[in-house]
Amino acid sequence: MERVGLIITHHSYLEYLYQNEAAEKERIFCGHNFDHLLTVARLTCLLLLEEGNSLISREMAYAAALLHDIGRWQEYSSCVDHAESSAVLAGPILADAGFSIEEAALIVKAIRQHRLDENADIHRSPLSRALNKADRYARLCFRCDACDRCNKREKMPHKHDLKY
Ligand SMILES: [Fe+2]
Ligand SMILES: [Fe+2]
Repeated sequence: MERVGLIITHHSYLEYLYQNEAAEKERIFCGHNFDHLLTVARLTCLLLLEEGNSLISREMAYAAALLHDIGRWQEYSSCVDHAESSAVLAGPILADAGFSIEEAALIVKAIRQHRLDENADIHRSPLSRALNKADRYARLCFRCDACDRCNKREKMPHKHDLKY
């Protein structure tokens, strides 16, 4: 997981996480901090393992998940979709960490698609599908004090309990 280590210590990565945390200091709904990214990374790996996918490496699954929300802070200031901004910001970090052009393209595409409806009529890689599902399953809505005010609540899997 050497390349994952290069991502999480990358100066831009640390800067974007700092920006997310600063922008979400007063946020009552779920945040986009390192804990969320790591939870999504672990779930993405588990989902790929569960479906017997051995083509997507653990490093690629972790890279996609650890980077999927790094542009969230931009959505607060400029209303840009954070799936798009995160995809754009992820590119140079993936290159610096040593991912090939082909690997980076697959990872960036999964990041760009991570907010689309699970049933959206688009081509999706197994990595994209797993990341999308992991992102939703990472949110424990039944433990959230702001759940009754959240407009995503009805779309989330864990409204009342843990269901997988
Ligand atoms: Fe997101
Ligand atoms: Fe997320």
